[in-house]
Amino acid sequence: MDWGLSNRIDRMFPSSSGNSVMLAVDHGYFMGPTRNLENAKATILPLLPYADALALTRGILRTSVPPTTSTPIVLRVSGGVTILKDDLSEETITTSIQEAVRLNVSAVALSVFVGSAHEHQSLANLAKLVDDGQTYGMPVLAITAVGKELEKRDARYLALACRVSAELGAHIVKTYYCEGFSKVVDSCPVPVVVAGGPKLDSIEAALTLAHGAIAEGAKGIDMGRNIWQSEHPVAMLKALRAIVHQGATVREAAALFHEATTSPKASVTPGVA
Ligand code: 5RP
Repeated sequence: MDWGLSNRIDRMFPSSSGNSVMLAVDHGYFMGPTRNLENAKATILPLLPYADALALTRGILRTSVPPTTSTPIVLRVSGGVTILKDDLSEETITTSIQEAVRLNVSAVALSVFVGSAHEHQSLANLAKLVDDGQTYGMPVLAITAVGKELEKRDARYLALACRVSAELGAHIVKTYYCEGFSKVVDSCPVPVVVAGGPKLDSIEAALTLAHGAIAEGAKGIDMGRNIWQSEHPVAMLKALRAIVHQGATVREAAALFHEATTSPKASVTPGVA
């Protein structure tokens, strides 16, 4: 693998665990000002010291993240539809590879909509982005979107979407946790990270999702709403780090979460767990 591309990937997986805790704050690109991300800067800044990478669009990068940050950036470069449309799959590439290089990002990310009305278009977007990325040493993270059809969140479907993404050249794949998740990971030759999906009912449920994913072979998480829609986002991120990097159990991570929420400095003191 080319040195630049390899270096960019390694910076996103910095810990001796070989895993990564990516913080996803790209939701506004199709959801608009979703809950707790209305003021993206206010949400991002306290969390930034605890993230191994930050996933977002160029608009939020430019306006809401200090250029002094050393946190690797995963730049979303697909979009073009909003939640006002029934079909979210008609995405195009919205940001050029030259812009990604100019912004000094560590990877570019796009959604692929396998089984959707615009499957071909999204897969062609991926293939083109991989070609462009190869020219500049820029890794591509493919996001296997499930849209509104939650029944597609099963191992057979997600394994298909992840494998197709890897076959087309994605360097990392983001998908959803599901029953039989190890099948998804085992048949995907590139690292898999998991999204959290909509906010779950409890802290324990979100920690259980992350724990299950790591136990079954994921190389990390790329999570948003279950962190920044939590009442205690910093504590949540610390608890997730313990699972992803230190092999903590759900009970241990939950204890860490509760300890962090009762500490007076819990949500204001930066420092990496
Ligand atoms: C939005 C995304 C998100 O980055 C991804 O879904 C992770 O966020 P969450 O944990 O909130 O699902 O790709 O399209």
